[in-house]
Amino acid sequence: MPTDAHYAFDNRADEAVDQLRVLESALDPITASHLERLGVPAGAHCWEVGAGAGSVARLLARLVGPEGSVTATDLDPTRLTGSTESAGSAGEAGPAAEVRVLRHDVRHEPPPGGPFDLIHARLLLLHLPERRAVLATLAGALRPGGVLLVEEFDRSPLSVLTPADPSERELFARVVDAVLAVLGERGADLDWGRRVHAEMTGLGLCGVHTAVHAESWSHDGGARLHDINSRQLQEPLLAAGLTLDELERFRALVRRPGFEALSYTLVSTSARRPA
Ligand SMILES: C[S@@+](CC[C@H](N)C(=O)[O-])C[C@H]1O[C@@H](n2cnc3c(N)ncnc32)[C@H](O)[C@@H]1O
Repeated sequence: MPTDAHYAFDNRADEAVDQLRVLESALDPITASHLERLGVPAGAHCWEVGAGAGSVARLLARLVGPEGSVTATDLDPTRLTGSTESAGSAGEAGPAAEVRVLRHDVRHEPPPGGPFDLIHARLLLLHLPERRAVLATLAGALRPGGVLLVEEFDRSPLSVLTPADPSERELFARVVDAVLAVLGERGADLDWGRRVHAEMTGLGLCGVHTAVHAESWSHDGGARLHDINSRQLQEPLLAAGLTLDELERFRALVRRPGFEALSYTLVSTSARRPA
């Protein structure tokens, strides 16, 4: 099944492994802290939507234990395994639920079972033009009292934090802007994250809560995402007017030891279905 045209990246591309790994190592600690705050009890039934390489699904499997269940779905589950062996650092070691892995298009297919005690989607809805309808689908798949956690990158300005000359700062800003423009042309909405709170309220969910997180990303940490994304999107970036020389200088800049830039802001919004 080819990756859908509405999703800007290709999970089968060589760079996808690194892309999903960088996202997981940069964002899993933040997601884990929200799951801890919300509470994921043993025996809970969870749906990880657009699961990518599955680290959050594996974390949930450890939290819910063998009495619970985790369904991990993705439009293209090429990089998704149900194994709990490489589960993230958060969560107790011990028996885990089986992770059920399914190819599933959340825009067009009904929820894969349910109702669920917890549904989590990270960096998914922002890519989907049908995001409002999908959010309603997710809210409708919660059991009464169940929790929905949606996490999205926001269009906050990124800047280089370490010493750099003005031309490097300008190049960084220009390439990042071009990446966001390409994502926008492919259906992404980088302002969606800050609208989720109102959307969840409008759907009748209660206890709606939003937190934002940004931090410095280093050349061997989160800033690698800039290098990887510029490779995955090289063709449309060149078509948009950037040159190969500019892309190569950008990649050298973000990979330079000592380089740090402000991360994308992650907007994490949670709510419960009224009991
Ligand atoms: C940017 S990745 C994020 C992966 C993971 N949630 C994370 O944060 O590490 C987005 C994921 O959503 C998946 N996806 C895109 N469109 C989808 C759809 N219509 N239904 C289900 N998954 C989809 C992609 O295949 C990809 O694995």
